[in-house]
Amino acid sequence: VYITNDRNNMYKMMYVSYPLKSMGQIEGVLRFAVSLSDVDNTIKRVTNIFLLIGGLVIIISGMIGIFLSNSIVKPIKKVTVAAKKIASGRFNEKLDIQRNDEIGELSSTFNFMAEQILKNDRLKNEFIASVSHELRTPLTSIKGWAATIKAGNLEDKAEILDGLDIIEKESDRLTLLVEDLLDFSKLISGKVTLAKDYIDITNNIRYIEKHFIPRANRQKIHFNVKIEKNLPLLYADSNRINQVIINVLDNSFKFTDENGLVELSSYRKGNNVVIKVEDNGIGIPKEDLPFVMDKFFKGKSNLSKTGLGLSISKEIVNLHNGHIEIFSELGKGTQVYISLPAEDGEMI
Ligand SMILES: Nc1ncnc2c1ncn2[C@@H]1O[C@H](COP(=O)(O)OP(=O)(O)OP(=O)(O)O)[C@@H](O)[C@H]1O
Ligand SMILES: [Mg+2]
Repeated sequence: VYITNDRNNMYKMMYVSYPLKSMGQIEGVLRFAVSLSDVDNTIKRVTNIFLLIGGLVIIISGMIGIFLSNSIVKPIKKVTVAAKKIASGRFNEKLDIQRNDEIGELSSTFNFMAEQILKNDRLKNEFIASVSHELRTPLTSIKGWAATIKAGNLEDKAEILDGLDIIEKESDRLTLLVEDLLDFSKLISGKVTLAKDYIDITNNIRYIEKHFIPRANRQKIHFNVKIEKNLPLLYADSNRINQVIINVLDNSFKFTDENGLVELSSYRKGNNVVIKVEDNGIGIPKEDLPFVMDKFFKGKSNLSKTGLGLSISKEIVNLHNGHIEIFSELGKGTQVYISLPAEDGEMI
């Protein structure tokens, strides 16, 4: 069999030769010649069809690629750009992607994150402003009195003593504030270790009661203390628990007017000992209530201070595996429940 071009080089020919044998002798050759033009045409047609299909596949996949890149890559790029803007401090960046799929979810989560960052940033700025203010007030007074004493009549002992008294008190206030700030950053960064021991909360509450009675008298507030008998022991850091109760009580005394009522009580509930602080003071607006335990959050009242008291208390209660809840109604009053796990049964 052999294939060659025809004489005019127009198309291919196939030749098949077969020897005709008779008794071992080749008597002749059978030769078959056929033009391959039809076969060639068919091959060409098939090749063209394949080329066409290949081309179509490339075009369609290209279009799918472009579609995918538009619908997935583009929004992701938008998210990346927005994230970079936020990282560079432009916290009010928002994404506008309205979709019902994962990318839509990603963009709404992103927007939520941006909102939270914005809120925290605002709270932090307000915090810095209020701390600066809190620090400046006693400093101004200390400086003022030092100058008055220096320029005044050094013989007037009474005035000097008054001045020194204020300087001392204001310095104490500054120390307390700075200690609070340090304490807070230690608590938040988890650097606080509790000195736990078995304690009878009755003793703590009696001690705190004594501490607050003069203030109640000064502010003309009715202060009630009720403690259930035979409360179970707690395994807790006594000083830290005092700090929590004092913070919460301090709020009640701060936000309750003359002739108001503040009540501190403690009782057992299931496996917990509950310490309840209740007042009939100014109450907390509904929209503020979910945030009062956030760090740096403080109300609009000018009695609000650094906004750390409740967040410190919450950290401490959490460290004791307890929980703290606050209920309040504007104009009616506030109740705070501090629940701590009782330790009976596990006592040695
Ligand atoms: N008993 C309460 N009555 C009314 N408002 C309250 C009461 N307790 C807390 N709040 C509101 O919650 C805010 C946060 O309380 P928190 O104790 O954390 O901060 P603060 O009292 O303002 O400052 P700090 O405790 O650091 O001196 C307060 O500013 C106040 O607006
Ligand atoms: Mg407070």
